[in-house]
Amino acid sequence: MTDEVTMTARIIDGKAIAAEVRAEVARACAELAKQGVTPGLATVLVGDDPASHVYVRSKRKACAEVGIKSWDHDLPAETSQDALLELVDKLNADDAVHGILVQIPLPDHVEEQTVLDAVAPTKDADGFHPYNLGRLLSGSPIVAPATPAGIQQLLLRSGVETSGAEVVIVGRSNIVGKPMGALLVQKAEGANSTVTICHTRTRNLAEHTRRADILIAAIGRAHAIAADMVKEGAVVIDVGMNRTEQGLVGDVDFDTVKEVASAITPVPGGVGPMTIAMLLSNVVSQTKRGLA
Ligand code: GUN
Repeated sequence: MTDEVTMTARIIDGKAIAAEVRAEVARACAELAKQGVTPGLATVLVGDDPASHVYVRSKRKACAEVGIKSWDHDLPAETSQDALLELVDKLNADDAVHGILVQIPLPDHVEEQTVLDAVAPTKDADGFHPYNLGRLLSGSPIVAPATPAGIQQLLLRSGVETSGAEVVIVGRSNIVGKPMGALLVQKAEGANSTVTICHTRTRNLAEHTRRADILIAAIGRAHAIAADMVKEGAVVIDVGMNRTEQGLVGDVDFDTVKEVASAITPVPGGVGPMTIAMLLSNVVSQTKRGLA
């Protein structure tokens, strides 16, 4: 006999928590409907990237389910930057549109930042506009990027203590890593963490990840986080969506890491559904602000 206890992590159910958020958004939409207001989201999708098509389709379907009207703008890959800017201007000026989402990545001939900057900050459904990112950094966010905002909700609603926690984020993208750090470092509920952001130039990645109470993997490489990179009892959040021959897998080697972690998000069914739920929540926030 041995005293050794093997622990298997609690699975953080992103689908269930996202359903909670979506129900709250649906109630907010019903309240707005009583005032004769239907929140509206315009989605702009350029080109044929199959993953982007899947994501945008899910976003549009989710809008319909909670009572948000959506307009689909599907444009060919050759669409010029000027044509795209013209469309964004038209949506900015349309009073029925409360939120605008330009799915990224955009084709190489388009300067992504120029297009994101053109979206009116008051209609920015993604929280990608520099004004909204600035509000986030200064501690007075209006809308926050949906994936990091969704992760914060996952942590809050599954009872993970972030205050004082060592959070290690792997990945420094503008849509996940950097805003994730900005959210969790705030002096606010569901935050107050000590944040480290690691990236491709980080020396000895595992030395950092092994210190994490909460490890957030947003790398974009299948199974990049192995069990020996994770502290016993850590909470592991997997942002990865990697299409492989084995199907959709995360950035975390789930089967081995779940034996070390105390809680872990699955792929699919973890972070992904939260991104969509928070997008819906952002549309409602922008709609309400527009009425105020
Ligand atoms: N591409 C990957 N994630 C996102 C997202 O949350 N919003 C937009 N607009 N594009 C993305």
